[in-house]
Amino acid sequence: MSPEHLRRQFPALQRPDLIYLDNAATTQKPKAVLDAMAQFYTSDNANVHRGAHRLSARATRAFEGARDTLARFINAPQRDSVIFTRGTTEAMNLLASSLGGQVLGPGDTVLIDTWAHHASIVPWQQAAARAGARLCPIPLDASGRLDEAAYQALLAQRPKVVVLTEIANALGARTPLARWLPLAKAVGALTVVDGAQAVGHQAVDVQALGADCYAFSGHKMYGPTGIGVLWGRHELLASLPPYQFGGEMIDQVSFEQSSFNRLPFRFEAGTPAIAEAVGMAAAADWLMAQDRQALAAHESALLARARAGLSAIDGVTLYSAFEDNAGALAFNLTGEHHQDVGIWLDQAGIAVRCGHHCCQPLMAALQVRGTCRVSVAAYNTEAEIGAFVAAMQEMKEFLDDDAQ
Ligand SMILES: Cc1ncc(COP(=O)(O)O)c(C=O)c1O
Repeated sequence: MSPEHLRRQFPALQRPDLIYLDNAATTQKPKAVLDAMAQFYTSDNANVHRGAHRLSARATRAFEGARDTLARFINAPQRDSVIFTRGTTEAMNLLASSLGGQVLGPGDTVLIDTWAHHASIVPWQQAAARAGARLCPIPLDASGRLDEAAYQALLAQRPKVVVLTEIANALGARTPLARWLPLAKAVGALTVVDGAQAVGHQAVDVQALGADCYAFSGHKMYGPTGIGVLWGRHELLASLPPYQFGGEMIDQVSFEQSSFNRLPFRFEAGTPAIAEAVGMAAAADWLMAQDRQALAAHESALLARARAGLSAIDGVTLYSAFEDNAGALAFNLTGEHHQDVGIWLDQAGIAVRCGHHCCQPLMAALQVRGTCRVSVAAYNTEAEIGAFVAAMQEMKEFLDDDAQ
């Protein structure tokens, strides 16, 4: 595994003045993805599914081929339960609206982890409110992990839906899905997993995982923005009402009534993001061609180095920074606003993210207004992490000198 070799495939990383450590927000894209999208627009561009001409047939083949690739990427048992969405946010809105509308009633509960992204929290909160149901958070324990005893106690209330974040975007910490999904199933709950931060860091197998639904975004896995996937168990998705209405998703339409298409088209109203689907599939192909375990081991070594470097700086607080974190670490420097740390790092050419990370309830639980987050991808190097740690040390020394 050579990150130097890998990063040569990323045009955006060729500038010498950038150390990009904001990968949990979005990853850079390899040339394979950029080329696949340019190739689509250059050679295959037409609308899909409805054209009478050969170009449209080519576009349809490219788009449906992308679905096949993404089904393979997550080991989905059927290609037509792979729904293209705009991203994880739209996938969660779709589920909260269609599934939530169908299964939630007055007095029901939906469980969600405290480190969930607003993209999971808000759609389910709104769906619960519409149904007269309640959204219940699974709290953190004193060590900064999700509290398993509290989870089990909440499961005793027999929630209708359990929404779990595979890897917390604000922290990099993992939800123990292998243990927790069967517990939810055992009480008859439907399970929804937000895999947005997982797909870029590890191979995903939805059959082995055993959740009912799984959502992720193209741009967190080296693919384009504006495209994502919702996978769901076929019988479950087929039983849900449509989420949006319009072209593609219908079977027959009259002014009196409409009937709806089969999966996956039933959930794909309007012209889809065709080139983006092609780009996302190219990203999936690119990832599947890599040694994923070697990439994960490399990322984990980068995080270990960052954790050790930050821990050695007096006044740094790390949040849920465990050895098995994936992709990210969150921290603050005592007495400094997180945004000031971000500005200091930016002046050193280092891009990190500072703020609430779309996780305001988590920030409230941690009793902070925000944090800094350093997040890595496979193309980051030990030297980049070294430069990040050195910049933090310099900031601390500068502040100490200033205080004297
Ligand atoms: C864990 C998690 N869930 C959901 C989202 C929302 O993804 P998108 O903005 O691609 O819809 C993000 C984006 O940061 C995320 O990290």
